[in-house]
Amino acid sequence: MRTLKVALLGCGTVGGEVARHLTGHAAELAGRIGAPVELAGIAVRRTGLARPGVPDRLVTTDADALVRRGDIDVVIEVIGGTDPARGLITAAFAHGASVVSANKALIAAEGAELHAAAAARGVDLYYEAAVAGAVPLLRPLRESLAGDRVNRVMGILNGTTNFILDKMHSAGWDYPRALKEATALGYAEADPTADVEGYDAAAKAAILAGFAFGARVPVDAVHREGITAITAADIDDAKAAGCVMKLVAVCERGADGLSVNARVHPAMIRSDHPLASVRGAYNAVMVEADAAGELTFHGPGAGGAPTASAVLGDLVTVCRNKLAGVTGPGDAARDRPAVRPMAEVVSRYHLSLDLGPDLDTNGQADVLAETATVLSRYGVSVASLSQQRRDGRFSLALSTHPATHATLSAAVCALRDMAPVQRVTSVIRLG
Ligand code: HSE
Repeated sequence: MRTLKVALLGCGTVGGEVARHLTGHAAELAGRIGAPVELAGIAVRRTGLARPGVPDRLVTTDADALVRRGDIDVVIEVIGGTDPARGLITAAFAHGASVVSANKALIAAEGAELHAAAAARGVDLYYEAAVAGAVPLLRPLRESLAGDRVNRVMGILNGTTNFILDKMHSAGWDYPRALKEATALGYAEADPTADVEGYDAAAKAAILAGFAFGARVPVDAVHREGITAITAADIDDAKAAGCVMKLVAVCERGADGLSVNARVHPAMIRSDHPLASVRGAYNAVMVEADAAGELTFHGPGAGGAPTASAVLGDLVTVCRNKLAGVTGPGDAARDRPAVRPMAEVVSRYHLSLDLGPDLDTNGQADVLAETATVLSRYGVSVASLSQQRRDGRFSLALSTHPATHATLSAAVCALRDMAPVQRVTSVIRLG
């Protein structure tokens, strides 16, 4: 029986866990695959670091030579980023290796080209770990729901931001402390800007649209808002409204059934919503399909061991394919549908207006009336409205009935021009 050889690119938070599981559970994996699997080399940026449980003799800084050895069956890429990952993956394909990757940024941006390169060489490209960590999501969409029609996917796809918002909400932590802890726990990207500005979730949403609808959505067509503008006052407003603040990703088909929209933004969601109970760095995704109805997938969305679990699941699949002399179904994103512009997407909104420190009773009554009038001029109707005094300043919090993004944005510009309004402090969707 031949032994399948695996090369590992990257030995950080995820790679270290992959190496330990791969060597520690070799016999079990061999049983599931139907052949022994051997970790043949580990490419790292720097040698000499303590890597407990990782065989030193396998470590090299020459990733390029490792993927070009010619005897490697599968390359696992967990270094992230575009370069050198792209070049190493294409070199791996060229040398006959299948690839398992956790690289959402690269797959979202260049999935079509990478799949084409894999298909040209008759090898596989799998990346379950790129979306929602350990949560099985791409494979169920691809296989279990292959006979159904998925219309909408809504989820929490970034563990770091969910951890931050959860700590701000339930433990009263401030943003910098929560981000520092998320980084220390190995949830955040090398540059956490990708997490907190929504780039990471947007890449995952673009990949998800491919698996949910067969739609290739360019990552820059995913509407993206991060959490850096969310304040402790917003968290308090969410609590007061019986809601929880979450960074959500939504992919949905348009009413025409042809176009799609994909977006990532903070949302205040009601505490009885299935996504409201997603804590810490967990992810959850709700899938709405014609026949299945609503399904929810929930589990650890970030961190070394959970991500390694998804990587190893893919490793078993591509090894089985290698032994059988077949490849998997390839690129899920077959179509290039029109992307429905964000301007047309309808949501309910929470708005918060800073009215400054000095506002007498008459002024308060006037500002309430004027706010409702300005909004109604744009066709935005007010669902609830409350005045507060916070830190010596008056503020107005209101929620709207459903309005398009375009209408709401125009109405917010008009609110900014109202004399008593010092600042529109928050514009947040209600989920
Ligand atoms: N930084 C990512 C997150 C890691 O926090 O979700 C998992 O993709």
